[in-house]
Amino acid sequence: MPAIRTASPPPLMDDHAIEHVLGAFYRTPRAGGLDHLAGGGGPFGFDITTACRLHALIAQFACDGIVESGCHLGDTTDYLARAYPHLPVRACELDGQRAAFTRARLAGRGNAVVHHGDSACLMPTLLAGLERPLVFLDAHWGSEWPLRAELTALQDTAAVVLVDDFRIGHPRFGYDTYGGVVCGPDLVADVLGGVRRMFIGDVEADYPLPCLQPGRRSGTGIIVLGLDDTPLAAHPWFAAVPLRPCPVLPAWSSVPEVSGR
Ligand SMILES: C[S@@+](CC[C@H](N)C(=O)[O-])C[C@H]1O[C@@H](n2cnc3c(N)ncnc32)[C@H](O)[C@@H]1O
Repeated sequence: MPAIRTASPPPLMDDHAIEHVLGAFYRTPRAGGLDHLAGGGGPFGFDITTACRLHALIAQFACDGIVESGCHLGDTTDYLARAYPHLPVRACELDGQRAAFTRARLAGRGNAVVHHGDSACLMPTLLAGLERPLVFLDAHWGSEWPLRAELTALQDTAAVVLVDDFRIGHPRFGYDTYGGVVCGPDLVADVLGGVRRMFIGDVEADYPLPCLQPGRRSGTGIIVLGLDDTPLAAHPWFAAVPLRPCPVLPAWSSVPEVSGR
């Protein structure tokens, strides 16, 4: 009997993309640790699987720009400007000294702009002229946590939104809690009443570039606004989280979650 041939699926990242992400990621200086960033700084908290996911999202949705809220000392902004020189990268930072540091750091990168101010207030400026931006929400510090206001400012736009420090229900991955409110799917369901599902980064999937960060790792939430989200439901790096009637996180194969941060 002749062997049955099945077409193997195309790679999620080809060799060129892997080398590109790898090179940009490890060439980016880790300044964040100089100013108390958990885990010593680095792009995305030095978690290269987040960089892989972001790369997949940009390719999948043909994003035409990148916005970052809360750039701190610019570790992720620097990475994004290196990895995506063909895209505008717009960042903002509430703290004036950090904004000035990041602006100086990125002075040689023509595709990056750093704004000083509150992320939710700046959102229209950051999004101006972009039709399908990738928006990385990472603004928080001390008592400051503008996520609710940021999501409200984004709700009528078309965008792929990636939220850092997001609760995914896995014990290895931290998340933020401010004033008893968890950075997680319940908050998203509450703010974005018209969104029926979101996604989280699947931390048990296979990635071409495994994370070697021994320190803190955080969960990632992904919200697709005003664009067709069906491609993500079929993508092995993302797990769907229904938001209605109430959010349901995946059951991970690892041990149950024990605490927040
Ligand atoms: C965790 S750090 C960001 C790290 C950075 N994204 C990176 O990957 O290197 C959070 C930053 O958000 C800033 N921040 C806090 N509230 C903000 C707001 N309302 N608007 C803009 N930035 C804010 C803080 O000053 C802090 O520098």
